[in-house]
Amino acid sequence: MSPFLLTRVLPEDATDAALRADVRHGLTGVPKTLPPKWFYDAHGSELFERITELPEYYPTRAEREILVARSGEIAAAARARTLVELGSGSSEKTRYLLDALTGLHTYVPVDVSESALTRAGRALAAQRPGLAVHALIADFTAGLTLPDAPGPRLVAFLGGTIGNLPPADRAAFLASVRALLSPGDALLLGTDLVKDERVLVRAYDDAAGVTAAFNRNVLTVINRELGADFDTAAFDHVALWDAGHEWIEMRLRSRTAQTVKVPALDLAVDFAAGEELRTEVSAKFRAKGVRAELSAAGMELTHWWTDGEGRFALSLSVAR
Ligand code: AVJ
Repeated sequence: MSPFLLTRVLPEDATDAALRADVRHGLTGVPKTLPPKWFYDAHGSELFERITELPEYYPTRAEREILVARSGEIAAAARARTLVELGSGSSEKTRYLLDALTGLHTYVPVDVSESALTRAGRALAAQRPGLAVHALIADFTAGLTLPDAPGPRLVAFLGGTIGNLPPADRAAFLASVRALLSPGDALLLGTDLVKDERVLVRAYDDAAGVTAAFNRNVLTVINRELGADFDTAAFDHVALWDAGHEWIEMRLRSRTAQTVKVPALDLAVDFAAGEELRTEVSAKFRAKGVRAELSAAGMELTHWWTDGEGRFALSLSVAR
């Protein structure tokens, strides 16, 4: 049995303080917003897992197709001894990479969801004797310090989650990723691609209503953590394509005029009938833009792979 270590990089109360600050800032702003990272409590993580199995939600299958086909090439190019995975979730797709990276010494999954990390980390440590698994409960958008782990390093950021960051935050985030790397180390980045609007909107507004439940779950999290009294049934799920920014937005639209109390913040929040709260931006990309953003952060794109239908891309870049 190989070692499984779990480190909470942020103390429990730091997470709590961050939630309070985000909710206060987001619900008193115009328009109202909430950052998507608060979707992922244990129930939200489960709902997201179900989303990845929906017929309409193609990104997970498209990315898996690329990993199945290209993990050998990725491993040969990166020759990593340490794999750091940001936003690892269930680590399900990572299997292909882990199998291909035969010289791997340490796997560092990083996620805000302790439940997902523990489940995935334990399973992996049991299956792959000799591999050190050092899981980090951390918000990787806030800058990371890695445990001692041998190079070369490969940082993987899969799933298209980079699309959750608006462009300015993306630049800062990619710079912080670059800071984890030495020259020659690599970044494997998953990006969902611009495509037909109907396909995109359907992926975020599925017929079974799982994405709607996922979206509303952020209100349940705030109710539980901050004592709020959101009536989740009083908000409609909205998914729309912003063609100018080339991103999908998820929103929650108040069905009626209502006031929501958030006791932990000593806050009462008024919603007008039809008022929308933005809960997620999910940007879609083009090859040129990805290359340029990586280059600006000190990395050079060396490989670009897509699935057979050209819906999703994995890119490999090397730190300069
Ligand atoms: C986990 C951020 C990649 O943006 O597609 C899925 C989250 N939101 N359905 C995405 C999500 C609604 C997902 N990421």
